[in-house]
Amino acid sequence: MKEFKPTIKFGKNTEFEKEFYQKNLMGPSALMIIEELAGHLSLTHSMRVLDLGCGTGLSSVFLAQEFGVQVFATDLWIPAADNYERIRAFGLEDQIIPIHADASEELPFAHGYFDAILCVDAYYYFATGEEYLDKYMAPFLKHNGFIAVAMPGLQKEFGGNVPEAMKPFWGEEVNRTFHDLGWWQALWRKSESMHLTDSFSLSCHRAAWDDWLICDNPYAKRDIAMIEAEGGQYFDTFGLIAEPQKN
Ligand SMILES: C[S@@+](CC[C@H](N)C(=O)[O-])C[C@H]1O[C@@H](n2cnc3c(N)ncnc32)[C@H](O)[C@@H]1O
Repeated sequence: MKEFKPTIKFGKNTEFEKEFYQKNLMGPSALMIIEELAGHLSLTHSMRVLDLGCGTGLSSVFLAQEFGVQVFATDLWIPAADNYERIRAFGLEDQIIPIHADASEELPFAHGYFDAILCVDAYYYFATGEEYLDKYMAPFLKHNGFIAVAMPGLQKEFGGNVPEAMKPFWGEEVNRTFHDLGWWQALWRKSESMHLTDSFSLSCHRAAWDDWLICDNPYAKRDIAMIEAEGGQYFDTFGLIAEPQKN
């Protein structure tokens, strides 16, 4: 295992940090991914940020600590009360607001409210539809805001020919949600309100999976066989960034 890099800070108790980190991962390391994605962004302390699909809020804590931004930590599967406990453990209750909401419906925010909407390892669950970016995301952004998402996907679309090694792991839901970067670029380029400004593979892809696979979590244990079968041949993790179109 590589050395733990305490990008979330909890006093001087690094053992606690490590345990907290592993206990709260829900997939490939949200911390590595948000750290790399943030490297492509201009985040400043006066910003109001929506962390959509924040899960246990690791990325929200990172954003609040690292950039001093205000974060609306919003998630569906994780209750806001649980995230509030974690946020309080970091003393960030004045900076991070936990919200329980379903991103596949109208989110409970004012239009033109956020400087940035960020989304780590969650966007593909609810946003594969053509109208999603324009109808469900763009309205909540300020005119000079931006959207940045990072998610796992394919190096190249399977196009109906799922490799033999991947068949045991390929169901309808994965088929609907897992795409390559070109597929996402094409989808975002259809937007009438947003302009795709950047898209890229993340260099932390493998390391982010490695940190997840060693977790004592039944989902991580289940994913080990999939990643072994994949063998570095099919998966990628990428980021996409968009800004409102200037008319
Ligand atoms: C794999 S977890 C990743 C969580 C976290 N971002 C991370 O990287 O650790 C996917 C997250 O997407 C969230 N999610 C899925 N569908 C959602 C929806 N319709 N609205 C809001 N969040 C959703 C889930 O609640 C879950 O926390």
